[in-house]
Amino acid sequence: MRVPRPSLRHGTASTVFAVASTALLGLASGCSKSSPSIIDDHGVESQRIAGVWWFMFIVAIVVYVVVASLIVTGVLRRPRHTDELVESDPMTPVTKRDPADARWIWIGGIIVPVIILTTLAVLTIRVVQTTRQPSADEVTIVVHGQRWWWDVRYPDGDVRTANEIHIPVDRTVNIELHSDNVVHSFWVPQIAGKLDVMPGQTNRLRIKATATGRYRGQCAEFCGIGHARMAFMIVAESETDFERWLVRRERDASGPTSEDTAEGQRVFMSETCSGCHTVRGTTATAEIGPDLSDFGSRDWIGSVTVRNTPENLKKWIRDSHLIKPGSLMPPITISDDELAALVAYLEALK
Ligand code: CUA
Repeated sequence: MRVPRPSLRHGTASTVFAVASTALLGLASGCSKSSPSIIDDHGVESQRIAGVWWFMFIVAIVVYVVVASLIVTGVLRRPRHTDELVESDPMTPVTKRDPADARWIWIGGIIVPVIILTTLAVLTIRVVQTTRQPSADEVTIVVHGQRWWWDVRYPDGDVRTANEIHIPVDRTVNIELHSDNVVHSFWVPQIAGKLDVMPGQTNRLRIKATATGRYRGQCAEFCGIGHARMAFMIVAESETDFERWLVRRERDASGPTSEDTAEGQRVFMSETCSGCHTVRGTTATAEIGPDLSDFGSRDWIGSVTVRNTPENLKKWIRDSHLIKPGSLMPPITISDDELAALVAYLEALK
């Protein structure tokens, strides 16, 4: 009886297609410009991590090429004795095996993976250890993961801000991570690896930016409805700019300079705003929501969800849930004139 064989041509085509599409998918997955890449590194820690990444990538390419070549060779190579296929019963297991087969299973299935995985484990542990070393002149920044934003404090200057974290370049920054709610994860791919933010525990992440710039960070642990919009920005600046920024933040927020902003401040203090937010130098000292003392100098609203423009701020104040579902800020019902004044006041806070 002749055993039906799958069409050799069809089998080859689909194998080659599978091999090629896997390679293309792998390449395409690293091409998005909208999200920061770990191999576009601008930090000492991310450089080390990128080193491990490149090592893994090269090993993966080698493994892929070897395995794909074996698959393609296996499909293309015709059996040496076609008679065996014609006569064999498909229900009878093949018992005769070349001893060389078993040797290759040991080498390819056990020895090589063990060598690769052990090398990777050693490399990873070494990188993790070197990224946690304290430094004598480090700057400490205390970051609290909130639902769903980042509360940022500079203990040296008694300064508080939110979501946009200013750091000096070429200096170690010790980020102390806290949470009093759920587990978050602090991750700025271009600067350093991620570290979980655990309730009841202080985790320390040491980072060192090597170039000035703005680097997007993201909460990397699912923490509830606002998780995807719990981003932040690392603003790495020169030592002089950083010191200037810190000194400015130690002073009170700028007061109203026009009738409009004065009316806005009155609205801020009389409405629910002051019940949750702080504006340095005023009677608003609540710490439930982000500190707004430097709100006008921030680029973003809602943890890097939308740009900080008067129009977006109006929408945010009216009903922040339309921009960020799950936001804990309640909708504010005020007249259009009051809203315009409030927005003018907030945008003027520098
Ligand atoms: Cu915080 Cu996810």
